[in-house]
Amino acid sequence: MSFNLDHYKQTATAVRVDDVDFDDFRDKPLSAEAIRVLHYMTDVETHTVCYLRDLLVTPSHQNPRITAFLTMWNFEEFWHGDVIDRILDVHKEINGLPRHRSVRVAQGFMGNVVAPITQCLTAAVLGEDFIATHMTWGAVNEWSAHAAYGRLIELEQHATLTKILQRIQQQESRHLAFYMSEARERLERSRKAQRITRFALRRFWAPVGSTITPKSETRFVLNHLLGGEGGNKMVKMLDSKVDKLPGQEGLSLVTKAVRAFGVRVATA
Ligand SMILES: [Fe+2]
Ligand SMILES: [Fe+2]
Repeated sequence: MSFNLDHYKQTATAVRVDDVDFDDFRDKPLSAEAIRVLHYMTDVETHTVCYLRDLLVTPSHQNPRITAFLTMWNFEEFWHGDVIDRILDVHKEINGLPRHRSVRVAQGFMGNVVAPITQCLTAAVLGEDFIATHMTWGAVNEWSAHAAYGRLIELEQHATLTKILQRIQQQESRHLAFYMSEARERLERSRKAQRITRFALRRFWAPVGSTITPKSETRFVLNHLLGGEGGNKMVKMLDSKVDKLPGQEGLSLVTKAVRAFGVRVATA
């Protein structure tokens, strides 16, 4: 069943936190590990507008259904970052606009100029089939974000953090539903789109955030969330979801990607 975009447009919203007592973090602060993970997460969430910049120079931009979704998606992701910043603020951690700006400046000429131009030209050559890759990529990233929040909830066992992150997860689930329905339809109708997507995932996919944050941070976050038995289970679950997409079976995408950052993933 295809995604109900009209309903989503009408109901996209800033994640609700008006009933959350952020002072609770003063009495029961999060672990140092969780704080480090949250820095990574807000860096990624607040970078959404930059990912959007790079996507609007591709054929996805010519499809108004997709740009309507991306408009709302960008809005909701913005608030995810904002809410995480509020948690960091209570812990007296650096956050907010100066931090977001420094992440953007750190991307340098390669990230801010070469990457969007390269993506523009590559996507133009691929044409309509690029959209299937974009949608599949988006689905994998939304699965990963949902899983990462889930793991942080499990590891931290903090009622207020759980309340906030579960609400973020609900929105990630809707993002996922859009990407999934678009990816599946597009992959099902084109063998060429399947081959392009498979090649792009195998060759270029990396854990969300790893291209914009220092390697040491990606390494830490992936090991903290995905190492050990609970984390390993999540990695296998993510791989099995990718496997079910048309033409994408057997990639072991997430297993390979996280192993590259030193996460020990048991072979099944
Ligand atoms: Fe998000
Ligand atoms: Fe999302």
